[in-house]
Amino acid sequence: MQDKFSKIGFVLAMAGSAVGLGNAWKFPTMVGNNGGSAFIVLYLVLTFGIAFVAFLAELSIGKLGETDPVHSFEKLAPKYKKQWSMAGFFMIGGVLIASFYLLVIGWILKYIFLSFSSLPSTTDEAGAAFGNLITNDFVSSAMCFSIVFFIVFYVVSKGIKSGIEKLNVWMMPSLFILLLIMLAYSLTMGDGFFKAAEFLFVPDFSKITPDIVLQALGLAFFSLSMGVCTVPTYAASLPDGANLVKSTLSIIFINILVGIMMGLIVFTFVFAYSGDTTQGGPGLIFVSLATLFAKLGVVGNVLAVAFFTSLLFAGITSAVSMIEPFTFYLINKLKISRKRALVYIAIFVYSLGIICILSFYEPTSFKLLGKPFFDILDYLTSNLIMPVGAITFSIFVGFVLKKEGIYILFSGFMNKTMFEIWYFLLRFVIPVAVLAIMIYQILK
Ligand code: PFF
Repeated sequence: MQDKFSKIGFVLAMAGSAVGLGNAWKFPTMVGNNGGSAFIVLYLVLTFGIAFVAFLAELSIGKLGETDPVHSFEKLAPKYKKQWSMAGFFMIGGVLIASFYLLVIGWILKYIFLSFSSLPSTTDEAGAAFGNLITNDFVSSAMCFSIVFFIVFYVVSKGIKSGIEKLNVWMMPSLFILLLIMLAYSLTMGDGFFKAAEFLFVPDFSKITPDIVLQALGLAFFSLSMGVCTVPTYAASLPDGANLVKSTLSIIFINILVGIMMGLIVFTFVFAYSGDTTQGGPGLIFVSLATLFAKLGVVGNVLAVAFFTSLLFAGITSAVSMIEPFTFYLINKLKISRKRALVYIAIFVYSLGIICILSFYEPTSFKLLGKPFFDILDYLTSNLIMPVGAITFSIFVGFVLKKEGIYILFSGFMNKTMFEIWYFLLRFVIPVAVLAIMIYQILK
């Protein structure tokens, strides 16, 4: 039997999973370039109309199954045990994401070290430094990857309560304090801050195209860690009496709040110094921001340490949630200790991580189908495994589980009408909407 979270521990751990690197480089850039608050409104509608609905379904699988994903599906679908237990294997998506996600957290760690000494001062220099790290400096990449790898596996080895909950209970508030400090500093940057706020919040509905709607939906799923069994796994350790609806709303609220705070901070710096808002992903974080911090002298070093540390925390709390589902499964399936289960997973994740490093490293530049292995893993998980997983879980709860059983689970937290609306959206809107994203992405 798995140990349980406390109520607040569950919310913090689930929010820790949701708040991750996606909030720092996907959310702000997408908001800024796709219509400011018009995108935020769209994101909120999709988050509450679709992601929230599917999230509750994932929670109910964990809460009703009370064990690892594969065995939960077996237990809840006794007639088609074998077939439905396959759905639990979407958890492998989490392990695959961890393999390249840990590498990015490793780069962040490297930038924390750099922030203590000297950050590159021009964009060219910064671009060259980052390029050099990933294409030439195998030792630094592998070392930083190894350090975060050990931290993450060490935390998961301690289990739900003394590992994952403990980590989130101090890391999430620390992350929030770091963001508040940086936000306070951003406020003193007058013009930059107002331009950032304008960029993020002034609505431009003309930018909302079908493509943007689908991208926003994909972001909502990625950001809430859906489709790879993280939610059912954490929910299997929910304490009795936790309010599922309120907890979910708190998690979503924290996730959006952190995204907006990150956006304000990042773009205040960008507007105060360079104004190039089109950079996204690693370019935004490791090139633009690193240069901007360097312009501020010692204060910049302090801010850079705070910023990269907040990203490190956000990344680590997400990474542990990618590993836990498969760990829990191996413990139950093979009747082995948590440590032994983690050794098997560690070998797999470490090997894939090293292949990812080698895929950028120039002397080897390991490619598959002409693309770096890193990009293939990212594409496969975000565009295929996560959406297919999310549809599968929604169909399972909507069409396989008995309606009365789910109603009993939720009746304390929503009235009958709300339940009926939720149930309708779950059965008919979610599968169609998610299928639409996927077909669109394949065709485009
Ligand atoms: N939600 C995380 C982010 O926004 O960075 C990513 C993630 C975490 C995906 C956990 C999947 C997962 F299981």
